Amino acid sequence: MKAFKTGILALGVLAATSAYAQVQLTVDAGKPGAVINKNVYGQFAEHLGTGIYEGLWVGPNSKIPNTRGWRNDVVGALKDLQVPLVRWPGGCFADEYHWREGIGPRDKRPVKVNTNWGGVPESNAVGTHEFFDLIEMLGADAYVNANLGTGSAQETAEWIEYMTSEGKSSLAQLRAKNGHPKPFKVAYFTIGNEAWGCGGNMTPEYYTSLYNHHATFIKAPKEYRPKLIASGGTGDDTKWTDVLSRQGVKETDGISFHYYTLPTGKWDVKGAATGFPESEWFSTMTSTLRMEDFIKANVAVLDKNDPQKKIGFYVDEWGTWYDVEKGTNPGFLFQRNTLRDAVVAALNFNIFHAHAERVRMTNIAQMVNVLQAMIITDKDKMLLTPTYWTYKMYIPFQDATSLPVTLANNVTYGENGKGIPGISASAARAKDGKTYVALVNANPREATDVVLNVAGQNASAVRGQILTAEAMDAHNTFEHKDAIKPVPFSASASGGKLSIKVPAKSVLVLAVEG
Ligand code: AHR
Repeated sequence: MKAFKTGILALGVLAATSAYAQVQLTVDAGKPGAVINKNVYGQFAEHLGTGIYEGLWVGPNSKIPNTRGWRNDVVGALKDLQVPLVRWPGGCFADEYHWREGIGPRDKRPVKVNTNWGGVPESNAVGTHEFFDLIEMLGADAYVNANLGTGSAQETAEWIEYMTSEGKSSLAQLRAKNGHPKPFKVAYFTIGNEAWGCGGNMTPEYYTSLYNHHATFIKAPKEYRPKLIASGGTGDDTKWTDVLSRQGVKETDGISFHYYTLPTGKWDVKGAATGFPESEWFSTMTSTLRMEDFIKANVAVLDKNDPQKKIGFYVDEWGTWYDVEKGTNPGFLFQRNTLRDAVVAALNFNIFHAHAERVRMTNIAQMVNVLQAMIITDKDKMLLTPTYWTYKMYIPFQDATSLPVTLANNVTYGENGKGIPGISASAARAKDGKTYVALVNANPREATDVVLNVAGQNASAVRGQILTAEAMDAHNTFEHKDAIKPVPFSASASGGKLSIKVPAKSVLVLAVEG
């Protein structure tokens, strides 16, 4: 596979390399776009495998250092990540979760079976109060997912009442008795999950009626009223977005969407997380970039049905999904996380930024130990993944104002007549007043020169961090926790030109100086 200049490449005639190609990146600082909502950097924590139990929650009596049951090392690393929002308790798990089983003394809570994920016991040790304790420690917002599949409108209404009501309500008093007199702040509340599949195999029309049924009975004091989210579709199917926005999902702030990157595109053999061939690096990048087509198609539907742009398009599950690691419970969805995942995350961020007007929230699946995780634990050990580092590098983009970028003369990375843009870029004016540029080189073998021009600013230098490694599947292990992590990167203008050599398979986030 080689890199080629876009524009002169006839796909299928993959010929000479363009090692000396110069891609022109123009950032228009004078034309600010939409604000990139910090919730684009949201996380998802489901009762799945060791994602919550062990990965985050060890219980107050554990030898692993913890605060009221939440492990200190993991919470500390997540705080450093400035996690803005956490979605809980599922996923598919949410549609079998009954909130009353997760309150009150922990030793009295019923033990259930997690039928979706490995058939293991679910102790209900982590319930509403524990979740909000975590949220408060992280300084994040709460995104709670209600049970539509096996729950009732009454159960939904009472959960909201339990979490948000004040005063003499008997559920408010029960909450106080359980340790939290003040209402919990539920920032977002969604009704059901993947209603087209594990959430009940419904049609969008039927789901819309059920959503409205539940939403009718959601009553909360004004200052504690959550924003409602309707659970939408997946992949290239825009029907869910269309029906939900056309038929009118009551009071919704957004319609959600799920899309996972599978290297092979097949659910039975998805591809390995490590030790993969370059063809699977390429197919993973190609599959990731489909996210932009899906967003464009759904946004076009929303623009038709909701021209006032009241409804957001929330990608509340995304990320890589590989074959599970050999020797682990297949229901735990445990996979290693490599440089490839870091590049996938950055490509997605650049796409989300370009559609910041509608994409006001996303939640990567999932936060710890499950799928494309930030953190991997094994008993008392913890490591940070390359995806964690991408999130960390992109912090300046949280609540920043997006700036339009154009890439002229971009290179193409491809094989067998198929090609994708070699360089992906994004830019924003951050809250610190600086202009930041993010660059991704999807080509795992060749560096590319990018000439940066910031219209309206005399850019004399860029300074920031780069994440890259020798191997496509470079990853951290408990023995080598820092095998891959960001290092400083800078470049200065010379002769009036600011040229940045973007190494193969790399992610860069740079502040523009001058
Ligand atoms: O993230 C794992 C699962 O993927 C979620 O529970 C479900 O919503 C999706 O199918």
